Amino acid sequence: DNSIPRDHTLEGGIGLLSEGYEFAMKRRQEFQSNIFQTRMLGQKAICIGGKEGAELFYNEELFQRGGAIPKRIQKSLFGEKGVQTLDGQAHMHRKKLFMSLMSPERLNEIAGLVQQQWEAAALKWQSTDQLVLFDEAQQVMCRAACQWAGVPLQESDVKQVADDLGDMVESFGAVGMRHRRGRQARRRTEQWIGHLIEQIREGKLEAPEQTAAHAMSWHRDTEGNLLDTQTAAVELINIIRPIVAIGRYVVFSAVALHHYPDARHKLVQSLQTDDHTYSQWFVQEVRRFYPFTPILGAQVRKDFTWNDYSFEEGTMVLLDVYGTTHDEDLWQQPDTFRPERFEHWSGSPFDLIPQGGGDHYRNHRCAGEWLTIDVMRVSLEFLTTRITYDVPEQDLTIDLSRMPAIPESRFIMSHVQVQPSAT
Ligand code: HEM
Repeated sequence: DNSIPRDHTLEGGIGLLSEGYEFAMKRRQEFQSNIFQTRMLGQKAICIGGKEGAELFYNEELFQRGGAIPKRIQKSLFGEKGVQTLDGQAHMHRKKLFMSLMSPERLNEIAGLVQQQWEAAALKWQSTDQLVLFDEAQQVMCRAACQWAGVPLQESDVKQVADDLGDMVESFGAVGMRHRRGRQARRRTEQWIGHLIEQIREGKLEAPEQTAAHAMSWHRDTEGNLLDTQTAAVELINIIRPIVAIGRYVVFSAVALHHYPDARHKLVQSLQTDDHTYSQWFVQEVRRFYPFTPILGAQVRKDFTWNDYSFEEGTMVLLDVYGTTHDEDLWQQPDTFRPERFEHWSGSPFDLIPQGGGDHYRNHRCAGEWLTIDVMRVSLEFLTTRITYDVPEQDLTIDLSRMPAIPESRFIMSHVQVQPSAT
């Protein structure tokens, strides 16, 4: 038996909160090891990373999620009893429900709705001095998400709902005020969406058949029962909240366009010939390069050994997500933004893991990954071809110790001009 390199800081949880995204990567580099041991929330935790680490983490016979997600995260970001907390058959059954919403037709639809919302927003921007892209993006995504999901949303509520869905995401690496805001937002949103589910079930509200609102209201578990109202609400929020979160990736895309003019130039040129390949690579590189998910957690299901290291039942295991997308063994010059690297990417399910790894149906890998990529591409192309804008002096620093990360100024744009439509 090998002993696992041990991080001697007293409590890794504090290190994680104070160092943020680079916490695990720094230690893996220091120990020159894809595995190390630390403490989280007072218990032993093993942290793994790299392609090998990801492959291990997604072995569902060795790991489970039940019991692995801290209550404070369930009370703010995720909700309780949602798909994230399930294992085995119950997970597969619930996951199929999510994946059924991701058909090519439905993905086309959300991309179209997002496009429309950007066009409408840009017309308004033309008559304002300047705007904060982060706020605008969350509202654009919120309108499109609710429409797509069959959730009625009045224009006067858009800001509040977008703020609430955004605040749940804002809360995940936070203590204090930012965490409390996330809890409040979740309580308010679950009440609203729970009421909506009841109305649909009582026939007082029509949710079109292909929508998430319909699917969550009428889904039956493996025993043939409807989900209880709160769980159905949690799952419907598991659709609209992360679509709003794509706004964060749009802000990162805008930062990349601003900081990497060569990449921007190649993007513009390729889009002029209606070639979307570079656009796709650009989106993949934004997802790889910019920080979003720092780590993921699971629990050892039964004792096993891996590379001579022993894992004991019940031990917490963390996957270094950010570090894996910045791993020098997997990515040449990982700290360089270079969309072209995806020309020769193998397509492995275990190296580009900003939204989790493994299989979308069998594992916990993000149900909305394809949707995210499509919506990001539409948004990126909107920013490059449909409008021109200035980027005034501002602080675009991304503090890697803040989770979730976002540029300090949240991307201010000015002098927006809508381009004449090509058609
Ligand atoms: C799971 C990231 C967008 C729905 C996840 C996981 C990550 C992630 C890291 C966990 C993977 C794991 O536990 O192994 C992201 C990021 C997004 C995003 C960075 C960009 C904004 C979306 C969208 C949707 C979505 C747009 C839905 C429309 C889900 C669901 C799960 C999930 C339902 C739980 C899957 C399961 O437990 O089986 N996401 N996601 N996500 N995501 Fe996303």
